[in-house]
Amino acid sequence: MKVQIMTDTKFGNGKMLAEALKKEFSNEDDVNIADVKDVSPKRIAEDTPNVIILGGAVRIFRGGPKSKKWLTELNKTLEKSGKKIQFGTGFLTHAMPTDKVQGYAKKYLNKIDEESRIERTYSKLLTARVKSEKGPIFPEEMEKARGYIKEFINWIQK
Ligand SMILES: Cc1cc2nc3c(=O)[nH]c(=O)nc-3n(C[C@H](O)[C@H](O)[C@H](O)COP(=O)(O)O)c2cc1C
Repeated sequence: MKVQIMTDTKFGNGKMLAEALKKEFSNEDDVNIADVKDVSPKRIAEDTPNVIILGGAVRIFRGGPKSKKWLTELNKTLEKSGKKIQFGTGFLTHAMPTDKVQGYAKKYLNKIDEESRIERTYSKLLTARVKSEKGPIFPEEMEKARGYIKEFINWIQK
C-alpha cells in the first residue's frame, strides 16, 4: 500500500505528528511524508497513492487553508488523468482547546470527503493540540494520534 502524508508545518509539529503516524503502518507499506509547500499536487497525482492523509494547522482562525487549496488542485489533476485515491483522512494541529476546534475539524474533513477523486473518506479527523504556537504537541495528544491511526488502518483493511 502506498501512503502519502502531507503536512503544512511551520515549526515542525505537523512533521513530527506525520512521523508518528508513519510508524504505525506496516514495513511493507510505502509511506511518504511531504509538505504542501514543497511538493506539487501534480507530483502526488502522478504517484497516485492508495491513501492520502492531509495535514494542516489552524492559524488565524482558519483550518488548514493552504492544505485545502492544495487538495483542490490534487483533485483537479487526478480528474484530468482519470486516476483515483482509494482512502483519505487528515489532521489539524492547533493551539486552542480541542472542543473549540471541532468546527474547523468538521469543515476540513468535509472538504476531503467532497473531493470526487478520493473514493472513501474516514468518518473522523485527527486533531492534535500544541502547548503553544511553536509546540510541542501535548504527550496525550500524541497517544491519541497513535490510537487514531491504528483505527484508521483497521478501517482500510476491512
Ligand atoms: C500566525 C499564527 C496564527 C495562529 N492562529 C491560531 C488559531 O487561530 N487557533 C489555533 O488553535 N492555533 C493557532 N495558531 C497555532 C498553530 O495552530 C500552531 O502554531 C501549529 O499548529 C503548530 O504546528 P506546526 O509546527 O506544524 O506549524 C497560530 C499560529 C500562528 C503562527
